[in-house]
Amino acid sequence: MASPNYKTALITGGNGGIGAAICEGLLNSKFRVFLAARDSQKGQTVVDKLSSKGSIELITLDITDDRNVQSAVEQVSQKTDRLDVLINNAGIYPDEGIDILTVSRDLLNHAMNTNTFSPITLTQAFVPLLEKSDSPKVINISSGNGQLEGISANVPSYSLSKMALNGATILLSRALKPKNIAV
Ligand SMILES: NC(=O)c1ccc[n+]([C@@H]2O[C@H](COP(=O)([O-])OP(=O)(O)OC[C@H]3O[C@@H](n4cnc5c(N)ncnc54)[C@H](OP(=O)(O)O)[C@@H]3O)[C@@H](O)[C@H]2O)c1
Repeated sequence: MASPNYKTALITGGNGGIGAAICEGLLNSKFRVFLAARDSQKGQTVVDKLSSKGSIELITLDITDDRNVQSAVEQVSQKTDRLDVLINNAGIYPDEGIDILTVSRDLLNHAMNTNTFSPITLTQAFVPLLEKSDSPKVINISSGNGQLEGISANVPSYSLSKMALNGATILLSRALKPKNIAV
């Protein structure tokens, strides 16, 4: 059976900021969009706002919760037989009023878990649906603070988490190349 002539994309943290703008851009490019948000009310507000532009549906997803991730895969699988683009956009910028000498282990854990480990586990979970696409892509939204020359002592957990995300992107890219998934 021939694939429908639209592409599908899932964007995490689609309920605000850059994520909502990406959703709008994808709708303008005729994508079928799955807007993932941990707060379904906030997500539905953006879905309602953008629904006149094309096909957009809400997926409830806290990226740090593995059971939630599995349920998101199941929700998407019930709606489509493939995913063309996964955009790991959701992230936190939690270093308020601290620096590398005062940052706590808890804050470091929180930033790494959200900004680095979640894009990895989410990518792992969506591989079976991505593999069914003709030209699957995973896009991880990093930051200038994740570059060696861009790290900042005033945003230590964020900088480290985005540096590690850049490393994860390289590793995922190598690992998924044999499956033709571009990262
Ligand atoms: N803004 C910038 O200047 C800038 C620069 C470089 C890179 N970035 C990166 O771009 C991405 C988007 O940034 P933004 O400026 O649009 O930030 P934002 O407005 O704060 O949006 C972040 C999004 O991530 C979601 N999120 C956070 N933790 C989550 C979790 N555990 N599960 C699900 N969703 C979660 C938030 O949901 P809630 O609304 O529920 O909190 C929100 O939708 C981030 O990865 C950020 O690091 C931003």
